[in-house]
Order: sequence, then C-alpha cells, then structure tokens
Amino acid sequence: MDFDLSDSEDWAGQYLDPNLPLLSSTQIKLARMLVQAGQAHLFTNWPKPGVRDADKLRFFDQVAKLDSSYPGGLAAYVQNARKLLADSKAGKNPFSGYVPSVPDGVKLVHGEETFMQYEEAGVREAQHSAFVLVAGGLGERLGYSGIKLALPTETTTGTSFLQHYINSILALQDANNGDQGEDVKPIPLVIMTSDDTHEKTIELLKKNNNFGMLPDQIVLLKQEKVACISDNNGSLALDPSNNFLIQTKPHGHGDVHNVLYKSGLLTRWQQEGRKWVLFFQDTNALLFKGVPAALGVSALKDLDVNSLAVNRKAKEAIGGIARLTHENGSQMVINVEYNQLDPLLRSTGHPEGDVNVETGFSPFPGNINQLIFKLSSYIEELSKTLGAIVEFVNPKYKDSSKTSFKSSTRLECMMQDYPRTLPTSAKVGFTVLETWLAYAPVKNNPEDARKVPQGNPPHSATSGEMAVYRANCLILKKAGVHIEGPKVETYNGQEVEVWPRIVWSPKWGLTFSDVKRKVKGNCEISQRSTLVIDGKDVSIDDLVVDGSLLLRALVGSKVNIQSLRVSNDGWKMIPVDWTDNSVQEEIRIRGFKLERHGQQSLFFDQPGKCHINNVSM
Ligand code: UTP
Repeated sequence: MDFDLSDSEDWAGQYLDPNLPLLSSTQIKLARMLVQAGQAHLFTNWPKPGVRDADKLRFFDQVAKLDSSYPGGLAAYVQNARKLLADSKAGKNPFSGYVPSVPDGVKLVHGEETFMQYEEAGVREAQHSAFVLVAGGLGERLGYSGIKLALPTETTTGTSFLQHYINSILALQDANNGDQGEDVKPIPLVIMTSDDTHEKTIELLKKNNNFGMLPDQIVLLKQEKVACISDNNGSLALDPSNNFLIQTKPHGHGDVHNVLYKSGLLTRWQQEGRKWVLFFQDTNALLFKGVPAALGVSALKDLDVNSLAVNRKAKEAIGGIARLTHENGSQMVINVEYNQLDPLLRSTGHPEGDVNVETGFSPFPGNINQLIFKLSSYIEELSKTLGAIVEFVNPKYKDSSKTSFKSSTRLECMMQDYPRTLPTSAKVGFTVLETWLAYAPVKNNPEDARKVPQGNPPHSATSGEMAVYRANCLILKKAGVHIEGPKVETYNGQEVEVWPRIVWSPKWGLTFSDVKRKVKGNCEISQRSTLVIDGKDVSIDDLVVDGSLLLRALVGSKVNIQSLRVSNDGWKMIPVDWTDNSVQEEIRIRGFKLERHGQQSLFFDQPGKCHINNVSM
C-alpha cells in the first residue's frame, strides 16, 4: 500500500478508516484534506467496505472535481466561507471604510460626432478583440424551458440571441476585411456554459453550423458548481437525497475569470496580437449597437477596464458605478449594488442617500454588466489572483440569532467585481450609453413582468422585442427617415410602445455612419409596417412602405433602391395569452403572434449592381 495511516487518529475514525484500502493515494489525500478542513461529518455512517463501494468512489470523483475547479481547492473554499459567513453574521458592510464619490467616465449621445468617432475607432479595434459570452445562468426568473440563447430576439425574423451575437461579431470581422487586402484573423468567441446549459448550447450551434463561424472560432468553457454550506462553521452539505453526494449550486458569472485563466486562451490571444476582451450576457439584443463606440472609448482612453453603463434613476434596482476611496487613500471604481449604495452614501455624509441630480438621473450610472478589459493588464492581474475573484455569501437565516440557515448556502461571485483587486493605478472607467440604444435584457416571466410598476422596465420577452424595433426606428429617424408611431399597446399585461417592426442584419448597419451612408433622401415607414433588410450592400434613396417589405441581398449583390413604393396588408400583431399552452412557448411569453396578411419580398441573389427605380408594388 502506498499510503500512510500513521496519523489516522486525526481522521474521521471509525467510518473512514475501514474504507481506506478502497481508496487510491490521491483519494486518501483528498480525504485527509476534508477531515483537516473540518468536514469529517461527510463520512458519518459510511458503511463497511463491500457496501456501496461504488458510491464511495463516486463521492471522491466529485470531491476531486470540486477541489480542482476552485482556486486554492476545497480547503480554501471552506476557509473563505467561514470568513465571509462570520462577516455576514456580524452585519459587516463589504465597503465599510470607503467613501463613495462620482467617478469619471465618458457619456455618449447616439448620433453625435463624438459617438461616431468612437464607433469608427471601435470597429477598427474589433479585429484585435475576443468576445466572451457568459451563458451558464439558470434563467429561473424567465422560466423558459430551453436555454435563453435559443430564444428569438424578435419574432419578425426569428433570429435567436446566439445567432444575433454571432452575426454581430462576424459583421465586425467583415468590416475589417479589406476589399483586396488580406482577411483579418477570425474574431474568437468563448461561451461560458454550465451543466444547466452546456449540452443545449452545443446542440444549438451544431444544428445551425455555428451560425457561420468556423468550428475553432468558438470555444465552450463549462463552469462548475460549488459546494453548498450548511452552517456558519463552513460545513459542507450533503445532498438531501444522497449521502454520497455533496450538494452543489451555481457560483455565479464571476467564474468566467477562473475558467478563462485556466483555459490558456488568454495567452494565445495575446500571442495573436489581440488587445481587448469583451464580456457580455445572454439576452441583450441591443448590446452590439453600443459595442463599437464603447470599444472605441477603451482604445482611445487606453482603459484597463471599461464598464458599459446606462443612466439610472436614484435607487433604481441596478448596480451603480462609483469611485470608492478608502481611509488609507486607496481607490477603486466599482459596481456597488443599489441596496448597498444608498446606505453607504448616507453613512458617509450624504444624509439623503442616492438622489437624482439636475439631469433627472442619479450621478452614479447603472452598470449593465457588459465589460471591456485590456488583455495585457487582465493577464497580469489573473496571474496574481489565479483567476480568483472577490466572493460574497447570502445566507437566509432562520432567525435573528443568525446561527442557522433556512436552507444551505454557497459562495457566489460576480464578473463585475474583477476591478476590486486591481492596483489604484489601474485605469478603470465606464461608458454611459442611452438605454434605448444598448440595454433591453430579457430576464422576467410575463407574470412577474406585468407586476413591475409603471415606468420601470419589465425586462421581459415582450419589452425586449419592442426595444429592438424602437432602437432601429430611432436610429433611422436620426438618419432622416420619416417613421410613424409609436402606438401604445398592451401584451401580457404590459403596456409597451409599438414602433414599426424594422429589423436589419448587423452587416447592413453596424454603426450609425453605415446607416447614414445607406439611407438617403425620402423614406417613409408607416406604424403598421414591417421592414427587414438583410445584406451588406443595400442602399436606399427613396422608399415608402405601408405594409411589409423584406429585402435580401446575397454577398456580391449591390442593390440600390432608387425609388420604391410598397403597399400591402402587412403583418398584424395578434394578442395571445401567455397561459395558452396551445401556443408555442417562445411566442406566448411575448403575448402576441405575427400574422402574415400581405408582404413583398425582394431577393437579390446575382452578383453585380441592381437598381430599383420607379416601382410601385
Ligand atoms: P442573470 O442575472 O440573468 O442570472 O445572469 P441567471 O442565472 O441567468 O437568471 P436567474 O437569476 O436564474 O433568473 C446574468 C448573466 O450571467 C450568466 C447568465 O447566463 C447571464 O448571461 N450567468 C449567471 C452565468 O454564466 N453563470 C452563472 O452562474 C450565473
């Protein structure tokens, strides 16, 4: 035998010792680590060798996995849990000793000259970037039976979130390919999945040929869950239905730093000359309308960290970005959860807490958790932290003595907490974009969304889809198109603005300059209309639509709409009840379906130039 039982008196004694001969030396080391970390209770009532031996070995497989996936291993996890649980019991504010102030950042207004300059810089910089999509969340609030990435962003084209993200990255890549010059290296996309989303994400990509990305352009990295804790002493919890299984729960999207660090991709990207890593979430169809400008801000201001933000009303339930200065002089610019920001301000000389200023918004912008990091300093920092990130614990106590929990808890971490360990010299900034342009996540089921007080965003499938149409309409309006609307209508109990259903593929209108260049002259779209533009080289001089028009041009077709009038019965939005199970889930969660009563489709599949002049249809 290659293990030493000489110190077995320190072990779990009567239950574990007889089973040691079943275990490999590695498993014995893990057993020793667990006992030393105060986890001997895990072996209580382990039967004699010969009984449930396979379960015992499976138990150690799980322990090995939990140990290797946490920076510092399970012993460090237990130690961190004890400290955080003690702080939580003592009611310690994680930011005590810090004074908040309003940080410096860039505020952009869509369409202004500065916005377009940043967009131009950002598109150029995209060829030196890598994208990381965190998509391991359960999506409990939405309650959709599939993965959120498979949901349509809007139902006019049915484009899923994943397809839309990939199309946007490919459009950024394409924008950097010279007409004659060499093509740029494919822009990488990492998708962080979890046990809850991994297989379905693979399936979605496979079924759709990666939506046009090359097979090695996309890498899936799976985050692992962490062990649950049953008391303030950091005791690991066993699964209530299985004594040989440690109960686990998700650790949060902060895992992305650890999985990226361990993957080796960061150094590979650096060797390829990449400079930026962009992190984004699973259901924000507007995000890529803000990405070029925000990436331009990172590049032109040389920021180590750039958080995308939107204006936020004081006390609105979204984290605020604040500069925190410690008594010892150190500083950080960081997301402070809204329920921590207000008390922190009150306790540091601002008796009114978080209040709106003359702009009508809080001076602390709202973090939308889309982040851009400079790759070189990111690698430097992760080599110090080994990918670990500041954690927190949120136990639900049984009573005010805070000695026991209603159910087991676990440590959690958030990707936006990355700057907390950065040196004060790091350049941490933010870019505020208008909400209508860049932020419309789909997080809530219809039942919860309809209870959101009027004036607050419901963040539902209904509001997410309407936000796509609104953003496209507002952008076209700024480009000079006459757009009728909106109309206010109610779907799934939510009052929403319904604009004409205008959708374009990212390669048609990646930036505002693109849109302005491609749409000129006299264009009018009525409120009841649908307009889909798919094709890089479609320019429009004079177009009137009252009904539905679908324009599609394949690569190589250069289409110029010189003068076109379209009138037909169009597509109608028909209310559906979200509880009506006869309707497809993806449709009923938005509360309406599109009925096609009339449409015109123009499909250009031949290479070369094509003009549409003086046509009425
Ligand atoms: P959300 O806050 O939307 O959480 O996550 P969620 O878990 O998906 O949904 P709920 O709270 O259960 O309703 C923000 C982003 O972080 C990802 C999600 O997939 C989403 O893109 N996420 C969340 C992870 O990748 N891993 C996690 O452990 C948690």
